[in-house]
Amino acid sequence: MAAKSPEPLKSTAELPRVVRAKGSYLWDATGKAYIDGSGGPAVYCLGHANDEVNAAVAAQMSDIAHAYRYNFTTDALEELTEIIRAQCGGTLREMVYVTSGSEAVESCLKIALQYHTANGQKSRRKFISRQRSWHGNTLGALGLSGFAERTAAYEGAFIPSIKLSPANAYRPVAGADAASVGAICAAELEAAILREGPETIAAFVFEPVVGAAGGCVPAPDGYAKLVREICTKYGVLMISDEVMCGAGRTGTWRALAYDGVEPDIMSVAKGLAAGYVPLGAAICTTAVWEVIRAKDGAFGTGHTFTGHTAACAAGVAVQKIIAREGLLAKVAANGDRLKGWMADALAGVEAIGDIRGRGHFICAELVADRATKAPFDASRQLHLKVRAQAMENGLICYPVGGNVDGVNGDIVILSPPYNCTDAELAEIVDKCATSIRQVLRAEGLA
Ligand SMILES: Cc1ncc(COP(=O)(O)O)c(C=O)c1O
Repeated sequence: MAAKSPEPLKSTAELPRVVRAKGSYLWDATGKAYIDGSGGPAVYCLGHANDEVNAAVAAQMSDIAHAYRYNFTTDALEELTEIIRAQCGGTLREMVYVTSGSEAVESCLKIALQYHTANGQKSRRKFISRQRSWHGNTLGALGLSGFAERTAAYEGAFIPSIKLSPANAYRPVAGADAASVGAICAAELEAAILREGPETIAAFVFEPVVGAAGGCVPAPDGYAKLVREICTKYGVLMISDEVMCGAGRTGTWRALAYDGVEPDIMSVAKGLAAGYVPLGAAICTTAVWEVIRAKDGAFGTGHTFTGHTAACAAGVAVQKIIAREGLLAKVAANGDRLKGWMADALAGVEAIGDIRGRGHFICAELVADRATKAPFDASRQLHLKVRAQAMENGLICYPVGGNVDGVNGDIVILSPPYNCTDAELAEIVDKCATSIRQVLRAEGLA
């Protein structure tokens, strides 16, 4: 199916002009308030204008904003590294800092390639990823993404990759059901490795909870453990893309910790410094690092702004607040409550096919037919209409299209700040359900 052109970005002239924000709310130049039901694109995990984070960044800026990585280390960088090590647990202890999620994924890919080269297996150059995934906008990350709407214009220029079926319990691959989809998708990975030749495969890259491309799709039960076993068996590195679902978004600091699995390499970004300053990281195990260290002495990948000092200071402040306020436990406990509230608020709406997700990362999927799970035709642009209606109603949420086949499908993601109050969460759910109902009614679908 031909992909439609990427979702049009509105000209800035058409957008409301935001002038101020505090906590879970933003205000535009007309004085209109918006509640941030998605933390932007699942970024602002502590809400806006947090005094403690701002003070930490300001203090760092007045000492030194950016110390270049070839000349210096800093307290902020070293402290953040220790925090990340502690939160990751296990052997995920070495990292490269970057300034976006795409760079984090790109760095994961390069660490994998450097590892195999250092390990005398330079033939391992291909990557395996999945359909209905999003890994970012740099060429490497984009090429691994299964998101036709966003990749179509660049096809032909990507690094070699093999795309497997999505592992989705609500939309299991043909011949599978919710209980068997994990094992069947894992078997598809093993078959692909054997077909291509294990000696050609560098890594398998996946989101343990799929974000924008699928709509908060958790790994089916048992899937991640099987993937871990298969990757280990064939010397293929397991890369967990936790840019969106990591840093506590789904209730554990590492999303894959929920599945009891340690990847070889992982990315993290959005929630790491909560959007106060752009920051991400690619993190690898000591086993991967030791191979690289023994041969090359250092990671080959990195950027001018790697380990940007003010960004690291923001990360330290954000992570200290998350730990001190016990926000991971709160987020974990809120997941089922949020899904329950959404189900109640949308009760009787035939077009709601599924409500799923974990922690502060939940999603409602719209379907034209509950029994067949057929999506609405993309030409209806339902997700765009929900976004517009929600903005009208003073709610920022994250509706996306294309989750079913890259073109059709409508999902509405809620990813509120971890420190939202219950009253704020209730307002978010209420406004989201109201917006969905209004759009469906206006379209003659309810
Ligand atoms: C899972 C995942 N990986 C990578 C990226 C790319 O991150 P960024 O937009 O910060 O470059 C995103 C962004 O949404 C993402 O959700």
